[in-house]
Amino acid sequence: MAEASLDAGTPAGTPAAPPFRPGLEGVPATQSAICDIDGRKGILSYRGYAVDDLASQSSFLETAYLLVWGTLPTASQLEEFQQEVQMHRRVSFRIRDMMKSFPSAGHPMDALQSSAASLGLFYSRRALDNPEYIYGAVVRLIAKIPTMVAAFQLIRKGQDPIQPRDDLPYAANFLYMLTEREPDPLAARIFDACLILHAEHSLNASTFSARVTASTLTDPYAVVASAVGTLAGPLHGGANEDVLEMLELIGTEDRVEAWLDQAIAEKQKIMGFGHREYKVKDPRAVILQQLAEQLFDQFGHDPMYDLARKLEAVAADRLGPKGIYPNVDFYSGLVYRKLGIPEDLFTPIFAIARVAGWLAHWKEQLGANRIYRPSQIYTGPSGLTWQPLSER
Ligand code: SDX
Repeated sequence: MAEASLDAGTPAGTPAAPPFRPGLEGVPATQSAICDIDGRKGILSYRGYAVDDLASQSSFLETAYLLVWGTLPTASQLEEFQQEVQMHRRVSFRIRDMMKSFPSAGHPMDALQSSAASLGLFYSRRALDNPEYIYGAVVRLIAKIPTMVAAFQLIRKGQDPIQPRDDLPYAANFLYMLTEREPDPLAARIFDACLILHAEHSLNASTFSARVTASTLTDPYAVVASAVGTLAGPLHGGANEDVLEMLELIGTEDRVEAWLDQAIAEKQKIMGFGHREYKVKDPRAVILQQLAEQLFDQFGHDPMYDLARKLEAVAADRLGPKGIYPNVDFYSGLVYRKLGIPEDLFTPIFAIARVAGWLAHWKEQLGANRIYRPSQIYTGPSGLTWQPLSER
């Protein structure tokens, strides 16, 4: 006969349920060799390489390759990958036509989520255990997502999308498709570094969403579409857009202290501040700030940067003791604004970069898959008696 359990509902030998942790804080939900964060020291690395080195030395496509396949590519591997991505940049006229039917006032993240999901209709063959299929899907998504973001930008302005230019590298081509102008080389280089900085960040909400979706063995387009939808929220990637709105609302440096004190008193979340993993300033925010300054040196200052720095200084005093400092979203918008990019494209640009991380996690999940199916603690009623409509 089995021994009686102390917990009446738990059979003997069954481990007690772990405590409920809202937001799964501190709960390991996967093992991963992709990204490491030291949130106390403010150190971030992809596949063992410091993100600072990657942002200054690598290219986005090289970093994407590193993230997905785990090692830096050789010269011929990188050449082949770049060429494949270049060849797959175009999107079907049917996708462009579909985008023309989207409301022009709709948010570009919604347009991106729909168009990313629609790729599954065009590439419906699924062979998740075939490395060539994985390679093809990675290439296609990394190649087409920027084209779709740029296409919606022009379509909503009533213009025809611009075709990608084969002679331009990845980042420069995106800026070209957006503005119809070949970008300044420094601007393109800085934009490419921004993509590297946003490419991966361990088990953030959208990556978790990607892994959960991947674990059902659905197609990679559904994986990316679910992640795009998750990234869009203001507590996650959507914060980069809200930071500029917040700075516009504050208006002038002399208003910073009063505004922040009131916001804290009202228990508002200060956009671009705070992070579950970091108790110090996000290392990406440090680099993005340097990139912003490079842009200002070359193309002229932005007074909104002074306002942002003042807010950071005052917030260090008020929120620093709680470990709340600028995160990746705080300075990225100032870089994009200087590059002439509209505010509601900031989060789609985050998605262009993060697709590399999502796909790395998709591939890793497939390598040791078990469907995500956590438990819950039921808090609703039980044993109710159904009543006919006439008696309610
Ligand atoms: C991204 O996870 C990732 O890696 C995400 C990301 C990535 O690369 O994928 O880094 C990208 O999403 C960056 C985060 C962008 N979001 C924002 O900037 C929105 C503002 N920040 C937050 O709302 C918040 O800090 C989060 C969402 C980022 C983190 O939320 P947590 O870990 O659940 O923390 P919490 O909301 O429970 O806050 C804990 C405490 C609370 O105070 P107490 O009630 O304990 O007294 O810290 C306070 C919060 O009020 N707090 C803030 C704050 N962030 C936390 N107070 C004021 N302003 C803030 N921004």
